This record gives sequence, C-alpha cells and structure tokens, in this order.
Amino acid sequence: MPCTRAPSLLQTRSTMEDFGSSGLTGLEGDRRSGQDVRTQNVMACVAIANIVKTSLGPVGLDKMLVDDIGDTTVTNDGATILNLLQVDHPAGQVLVELAQLQDKEVGDGTTSVVILAAELLKRANDLVGMKIHPTSIISGYRLAMKEAIKYINERLSSKVDKLGREALINAAKTSMSSKILNVDSDFFASMAVDSVLAVKSVNVLGQAKYPLKAINILKAHGKSSMESRRISGYALNNQRASQAMPTTVNKAKIALLDYDLRKFKMSLGVQVIVTDPTKLQAIRDREEDIMKERIDMMIKAGANVVLTTKGIDDMCMKYLVEAGCIGCRRVKKDDMKRIAKVTGGQIVVSLANMEGDESFDPSMLGSCDTVYEERVGDNELLIFDGCSSQRAGSILLRGANEYTLDEMERALHDSMCCVKRVLESNDVVPGGGAVEASLSIYLENFAHTLGSREQMAIAEFAQALLVIPKTLAINAACDATELVAKLRADHHHAQQEKDPAKFKERSSSGLDLRCPRSPTPCVLCVPPFPCSARVATAAAAGR
Ligand SMILES: Nc1ncnc2c1ncn2[C@@H]1O[C@H](COP(=O)(O)OP(=O)(O)OP(=O)(O)O)[C@@H](O)[C@H]1O
Ligand SMILES: [Mg+2]
Repeated sequence: MPCTRAPSLLQTRSTMEDFGSSGLTGLEGDRRSGQDVRTQNVMACVAIANIVKTSLGPVGLDKMLVDDIGDTTVTNDGATILNLLQVDHPAGQVLVELAQLQDKEVGDGTTSVVILAAELLKRANDLVGMKIHPTSIISGYRLAMKEAIKYINERLSSKVDKLGREALINAAKTSMSSKILNVDSDFFASMAVDSVLAVKSVNVLGQAKYPLKAINILKAHGKSSMESRRISGYALNNQRASQAMPTTVNKAKIALLDYDLRKFKMSLGVQVIVTDPTKLQAIRDREEDIMKERIDMMIKAGANVVLTTKGIDDMCMKYLVEAGCIGCRRVKKDDMKRIAKVTGGQIVVSLANMEGDESFDPSMLGSCDTVYEERVGDNELLIFDGCSSQRAGSILLRGANEYTLDEMERALHDSMCCVKRVLESNDVVPGGGAVEASLSIYLENFAHTLGSREQMAIAEFAQALLVIPKTLAINAACDATELVAKLRADHHHAQQEKDPAKFKERSSSGLDLRCPRSPTPCVLCVPPFPCSARVATAAAAGR
C-alpha cells in the first residue's frame, strides 16, 4: 500500500509546482516557499529588532516618532515604538504582536523579547542553512527554554520576602533606569512600590493580588516632576457639576449611571399630537416630573454621590443640590468601570425593572468612606477615599509638557508592572545581563551532555541569550566583546562553585552601566543586584 501511495503524492506536488498553486487546486494567490522566503522573513524580524535595539538598557536612546497627522511621541518603550510603526511585513507583524503581548501580560521587557526573538530566528535560519531540519531546531529551542526556566527557578532566583523591601525598590529602579524617570529613580521607585503595595488584595484562593487597574495615574501640566505625589483613594479627573454642591460627602453611597440626567424627551420617531392647547403645559410638567421621580428614587435608595457618563441639566442639578448630593457629569466609561470595581457598585444603564416600572435597587450603589473635591494645579479632582470593595490609589504626575508626562506615565506603568510581578511570583533575579550570561554557560554545558540532534540548536540558543548583555554594552559605548567575555568567565567560575551561598553571590554578577561616564563600566557582584523584571517574570511563568 505505501508503495502505491508515495508516487502519487510526489506526482501531485510536482504538478502543483508546474502549473502554479491555482492551476489544479483552484486556490488563488501565489505560493512561495524555500530558503529565500525564510531568509526574507528572518530579515524582516531582524530589521524590526534593529530599530528597537538602540533603546535597550539604562543608556539606551529614546525615539521620536511622528505620524501622518504630525502627532509626535518621544519614547523608550519597545511596545510603544513598535505600535506606532506601520509594519506591513507579515513576519514583522508577528514580532510587533509579540511586543504587544509582553506589554499586556507582563508590562515590561518588550524591547528585550523582540531582540531575543530576532536573534533566535537569525540563528535558527543559519542552522537550517547547515541542513539541520527545522523540527530539530524547534525541539532543541523548546528543550533549552525548559531547562533555562528550571535553572532560573532552582538556582538563580531569590525569594523576595527574604530580601525585603529593598529588592522591590531595586526591581522598580532597574525597570525605570532606561526611562525618563531614571534621574529621580529613588523618588519614583518608592512611589511605585508604595502604590502597588497599597492596593494589595487577597483572592478566594488566599493568594495576594495587586490589581494595577485600581491605581489611577493622572497627569497635570506644570511644576517639576519631583512634585508628583500619591493620593490615597481613587482620583477622578472631573469636578462637581455645580459649585452649590457640597465639596465633601462622608459615608458616600455612589450611583453610577450610564444615562442622561436631563429633561425627559420622547425618543426619536415618537409623535404626540395634542388637540387641546391647555394640555400642552401638563405634558411639559410631566416630562419634568419624570426626571424628578428618577432622582428621588436614587436619593431614597441612599445615593449621595451621582456620577454619570452623560450630561446633567440645570433642573436635575437643582434637585441634586437640594438633596445635598455631589453630582458629576461626563465621567469616562473606563473610570466608571474602575470606580464600580473599587466601590463595589454597578453601572446602571436603565431604571426599568421586570414589572415594566422604574425602580432603583440600593444594591447597585457603590460605597466609600469619603468623596471630596481637591484642587490640584489648574484642575479639580474628585477623590474617592476608603473604597469598600478594593483598595484604590492614585498617582498625580507633574511635568513640563505633554510628551514628558506621557513618557513618565509609561515608565511608571512599566515599573509598577514589574513590582506587581515580583510580588506575585515572590521571585527575583539579577539584571544587567547576569541571568542571560549564567544561562548561556549552563546551556552550553548542557548541550555537550546531549548526544541527540538537538545539541546544536541548544548551543545556538545559549549564544543567542548573550545578545542582551552585548546590546547593553554596545548601547553604553563599551567594548562589548571584552565585557561579555569577562561576564562569561565570572559565571563559568560561579558554576564551578560547590557552596550554594558562594554560587548565589557569584552568579549575581552582571553589567552595571549606571555611570556611563566612568571609563570602564564594571562587572559587578552585588547581591541583591537590581533585578530584571523580564527574567523575574520568566521565572514566575515557569512555576
Ligand atoms: N544599571 C544597569 N546596568 C546594566 N543593565 C541594566 C541596568 N539597569 C537595567 N539594566 C538592564 O536593562 C534591560 C532593560 O532595559 P529596557 O527597560 O530599556 O528594556 P525592556 O525592559 O526590555 O523594554 P521596555 O522597558 O521598553 O518595555 C534589562 O536587561 C536590565 O537588566
Ligand atoms: Mg524596561
């Protein structure tokens, strides 16, 4: 049976090549395959990685991106750079998606993953050129990845609870070292750590969670960045609808509305024909009463703060003022969702109930200790403090202009993500290329112990990891070859160490490029060395 099938398959393939893919199969489009296409795809990925390469590390450069309508973004964040690039090549798009995914899942390390992925692809392409089958390369890479994660978990990572708060601060500092906040990293690192710790909650499984969505970052132009501050509670960038409303409400019950608080109007297409002109005023009165009844319903249910995503007209404002409520209009939908989450309320889309009447269920109200208005710079903020369902916090960033504030927000977001991952995984690893160099030595030795065809792929994986310390050194205008050689030698000796304590100490050796003006950036050995969020996450993901 196999003897008769094999020639027919061969025949089909040669026929397709002779007549083009659309000939016999009826499929449209070109079919391209082989080494050329593979090389083209790899080249596209490498080209994209080269764009972000120069922005890696503490001495990496920022990029200025200008779009078609002239909007300018100045950033160092890999995901933001790649999002703003219009990448048409399909393989390039996969790499862009990789960065976006890293940003969504982890929050930091977007530049590193792109550089590493491109390096792995480049080396895989070389291996294919050496007639090694792609499946062997893929299984070699997979094996190397599993071994690497195991090694990080077992030997390289340290427990954060043993290292204490300093490790968290170091992790935040490492993450922001390449960003605009680097100059004031002491101030912002402790702000990031405090903000993340302040929103700690424990889920039903008893695990500590740090929901970053409970932290609102607000931006206000003017003053120096050092005047940025934390605000306890969720701060909303809106003000009271009327000056006659109270500025503070204690024991707040919050109604979260997604409908207009404006005079009731018949919906479009509904026609009311009035034959008796004396009834006209009655209709107008009824229209006004409908809104009054709705507001009364909310107030009776206990609401003393009313937020709506739509508008509030003068008449409704009057009713709210009379009831001593704070009303706030045009609240963003995203903010509304977050307030609903932290205060334990629900967004009300309509008052209609199952009986066909209108009612307001008090269980829809969110609650918090105090809602108050505070003036910050030129704006007023509405602050929800002591939220009942989840703890919430806010950070108010001050800066010279919009570009600075946007980049500060991205940098702070990266370091808060990093702190969150470190806290949730309880693991931390040294940065500055330490983990990459250590893994490279370990995997090279591991490859030698294998007699299978994956050996070469694992050795290439080990080499590919060195792209991170190499790029860090090149960006800092250092002799990358020499520094990486020193680093590798250090890790080689560390891995010969039998004593676990000495091993830990020596394997923390990484590049310290914090002082770019010093003639020879040193290969440091300072446990706990500033930690790389990206690798800490890899360790966490391996669990
Ligand atoms: N002082 C330092 N000396 C040497 N390397 C450092 C130092 N601080 C941070 N690094 C390294 O810099 C790298 C992080 O750089 P960077 O933040 O630019 O890129 P990323 O985190 O991969 O991407 P992004 O932040 O754009 O999402 C990590 O490998 C980290 O270990
Ligand atoms: Mg980073």
